[in-house]
Amino acid sequence: MQSKNLLMRLLNLSLHHGRLQKMCCGEQIPRLSKTNQRLPDLSKRTRQFHFTARGQSTTDDSAGEEDAARSDASAKRESYLEARRKGVLMGRRRLSPMERVGGMLETKTDFGVQDLTRDLRTSGNRDAKVVEKVDDDETDSSRISDHNHEESFETSVYGDSVTGGNHFDKTQHRGPPLVDGEYIIITRENLKRQEKLVRLIKLDARLEFKCKFGNLLHADIIGHQGGSVFATDMDIELLIRRPSLDEFVLYMKRNPVIAYPKDCCTMLMMIDACPGDVVLEAGSGSGSMTLFLSRAVGHHGKVLSFDKLPTHQVRAEKNLKLWQTSYDISNQVKWPQNVSFYPCRLQDCGEYIKDAQVDGAIIDMESPSTVMTTMSQRLKSGKAMAVYVANLTLVIDLAEVIRKERLPLVTETILEVTHKEWVVNPARRHAGIVLQESKTADGEEFGDDGVVGKGKGVQYIADEIPKYLARPHHIQSSHTAFLVKIRKIRKSSSTFKV
Ligand SMILES: C[S@@+](CC[C@H](N)C(=O)[O-])C[C@H]1O[C@@H](n2cnc3c(N)ncnc32)[C@H](O)[C@@H]1O
Repeated sequence: MQSKNLLMRLLNLSLHHGRLQKMCCGEQIPRLSKTNQRLPDLSKRTRQFHFTARGQSTTDDSAGEEDAARSDASAKRESYLEARRKGVLMGRRRLSPMERVGGMLETKTDFGVQDLTRDLRTSGNRDAKVVEKVDDDETDSSRISDHNHEESFETSVYGDSVTGGNHFDKTQHRGPPLVDGEYIIITRENLKRQEKLVRLIKLDARLEFKCKFGNLLHADIIGHQGGSVFATDMDIELLIRRPSLDEFVLYMKRNPVIAYPKDCCTMLMMIDACPGDVVLEAGSGSGSMTLFLSRAVGHHGKVLSFDKLPTHQVRAEKNLKLWQTSYDISNQVKWPQNVSFYPCRLQDCGEYIKDAQVDGAIIDMESPSTVMTTMSQRLKSGKAMAVYVANLTLVIDLAEVIRKERLPLVTETILEVTHKEWVVNPARRHAGIVLQESKTADGEEFGDDGVVGKGKGVQYIADEIPKYLARPHHIQSSHTAFLVKIRKIRKSSSTFKV
């Protein structure tokens, strides 16, 4: 009994000694949980310490050496975050939710849930490589039709100023290739590494795109389909495609703050903007809402855009022009030329548009309650306007003006548009199990049951059906505005919905 006690004390002493030495050498030691003070792994680590610190083994236990060497190698491989996740490092800040969840994400997926990338690397003009994104059922004939398509794009005509001369069956083609002078969007997102790149650039054959992921000649991009993946000179892949209108609006230059796309689209719905409508806007600002209105009313409609500050209106005009030009050279249909800018206060609009009445209006300016009288005269009876206001005090101001001045307007809806963005990614772990696609780290094949081995608390399984991790995106948009729908009626009414 006595000798057993002595042995235990010696063992504890040696373990303690090992911990102390490791701390002296700056090596991190595992934190012991309060509930479980067992130290079996520590004894191996102590042995490993002697092995590495003195340059030679102090034990002839070959299994122990292997263990030590393996854990040494794996310790090197372990990233800082992984060590933090396992609680190996002490006294550091807590991990953010994103850092914690990062360990559960598959590292390989860079471009969202589906990665259809096939390794079809073709060299461009220089060293840049292009990895075409293709559909699984794509055949060689579709590539031939792409070639034909380039010809038809070259020979397409913009004859008819209204429709853009669209005699082209869009369903039969994959879309025109990227051309010099149009806007493109370059993206790269890796949630695990918290990397995000979104750049809106204009293609110019003489220039080179530069970012922290490497360089890429514009000339190498021109002529390829939108939605291609290009490798930079650092061999990092970037997704390149045409921007949608909401992306252009978000990344274009701006003077005053813009109306956000989610609100723009809701306001279009509120005023029921249709092709052929004549709509009014105050103020033009940076031109975000102007662009959405221009698209909604189309070639036969008209947008009357007012702003009291010429500097702001110049920015709106420039943005509209840039988008129109880019759209015209990259599409088979011309963007409508339907916007008239007026550099004056909305209250003085009669100077330019006489007593014209409109089918709808968007009011996005300071103190919108000051223009309610003007709008009650400009809106056609039964038609609606959408007012973009930052806070509820301004909403109450609107209702109060309508009530006090007995305007023929009625407040129908007050909305706040909230979007909650979610992320669905292939998971690396599921229910505490590490998921692997086909092989273990040692290159061992999975068995029929999908299980190859158990060890160190990690079970590897093969799974034909990938497991996914769904969670809210770690960045969410916050409050932007309240949207108030106000309808013009024939006579002032005492019924208000506020
Ligand atoms: C927030 S910005 C509009 C942003 C714009 N809707 C967009 O999406 O880019 C407000 C604009 O209203 C203009 N403004 C303010 N009072 C005005 C008034 N009485 N008449 C016309 N424009 C006005 C300002 O000069 C400013 O450019």
